[in-house]
Amino acid sequence: MSKSEEKHIVKATYGISSASRADQNRHLPLLIWLTGLSGSGKSTLANGLEMQLHDKGVKTYHLDGDNLRKGINADLGFSMEDRSENIRRIAEIGALFLDAGLVVTAAFISPLKKDRERVRDIVGRDRLLEVFVDCPIEMCEKRDVKGLYQKAREGLITDFTGIDSPYESPDNPDLHLYTDRESIEQCVRKMVDRVLDKIKLQH
Ligand code: ADX
Repeated sequence: MSKSEEKHIVKATYGISSASRADQNRHLPLLIWLTGLSGSGKSTLANGLEMQLHDKGVKTYHLDGDNLRKGINADLGFSMEDRSENIRRIAEIGALFLDAGLVVTAAFISPLKKDRERVRDIVGRDRLLEVFVDCPIEMCEKRDVKGLYQKAREGLITDFTGIDSPYESPDNPDLHLYTDRESIEQCVRKMVDRVLDKIKLQH
């Protein structure tokens, strides 16, 4: 949009406030952002977390890289530019869901620090919990749940994270999980505890 076009956009005001939504939901909104290599366990952990929160009456939704890339981000590939745009759009979608009052889990490789910092800028520090799903690439490759590492090694997929495309580990995540030595249950329990603390769920 050009500067002169932008001048003609006037922000609409909404009648229902975030506070009133949080009151009705009986909890605060939160975006739990899981970053890590393909095969590190992000989707499994996000799923486990969401199910436990749902059972406790929390209003949740889950955003997953593989699924959103089939819809709203179907025009994007795996170049660094496309990944940045992928993450920017998810952050904007996440921000809307937060405004709607939800507790949102988001599982995306999100390999670059600058893109994850932008997520923080878009949604706001207070509404974000960054979780580093840490697993050595050797283990991810051994698991190779989707058979993609093998394809990347054979040269059938290029720009594969950890093989011929970078992954920058977070320096200071809110939660650091080691899926090579902690069980799924342990990791999910740690996330549930942190989330319940942050969203101030009322019974
Ligand atoms: S991100 O880098 O832009 O954050 P995203 O999380 O949306 O990636 O998508 C990653 C998923 O796409 C992986 O779990 C994997 O199943 C699939 N995939 C396909 N090609 C690649 C690739 N070149 N690099 C990484 N993941 C890929």
